[in-house]
Amino acid sequence: MSAEPYVPDRGTLDDLRAAVHTCRGCDLYRDATQAVFGAGPDTARLVLVGEQPGDREDVEGEPFVGPAGRILDKALAEAGIARDEVYLTNAVKHFKFQRSERGKTRIHKTPGRTEVVACAPWLAAEITRVDPELVVCLGATAAKALHGPKFRITTDRGRVLPAPDGPFAGRDVLATTHPSAVLRARDDRDEVYAGLVADLRVAAA
Ligand code: URA
Ligand code: SF4
Repeated sequence: MSAEPYVPDRGTLDDLRAAVHTCRGCDLYRDATQAVFGAGPDTARLVLVGEQPGDREDVEGEPFVGPAGRILDKALAEAGIARDEVYLTNAVKHFKFQRSERGKTRIHKTPGRTEVVACAPWLAAEITRVDPELVVCLGATAAKALHGPKFRITTDRGRVLPAPDGPFAGRDVLATTHPSAVLRARDDRDEVYAGLVADLRVAAA
């Protein structure tokens, strides 16, 4: 399984964005509403990579427009980063979910390694087009997409490290917490949020 045959090898971000809707690189296109491609200027100095679109994003077709996006917006502002100056995308472009027992709600499922690897050609193509100074991975799924499956966000977050061999070889990458972790946190919510802002400040510097 790979998105490779669907990714145009030339053209702009808009050409990629148009082509992603034809992707059948893994099974996730079947149940999702639509592919959600990255958004932002092709001149951005920072590319931020999330996990996959959530329920809202799947419906609206834009990244980070739901609850996690609101946390991200706040954290970016606090770190002195303008949202409209960064390029925001996800490691996986289609929403993976499971229906609740009565079928009413769609429950997020973490994408597996197979889906992350299958979708990586889209992410690689976006990052090549934007050619940022730094890629910021939000959460473990994105961090593993760039650094490989052995990467541990708990030990290596907040530091700029070069991506190993592979589609992202040589890119400067900084991994941090996913904004959803702030939403899930209970007693330590302020701490988790402060950690995200601190890492984004490193990225901004
Ligand atoms: N979570 C993500 O990782 N990406 C989105 O676009 C929205 C929520
Ligand atoms: Fe293609 Fe990625 Fe969607 Fe899978 S998740 S169908 S690889 S765009």
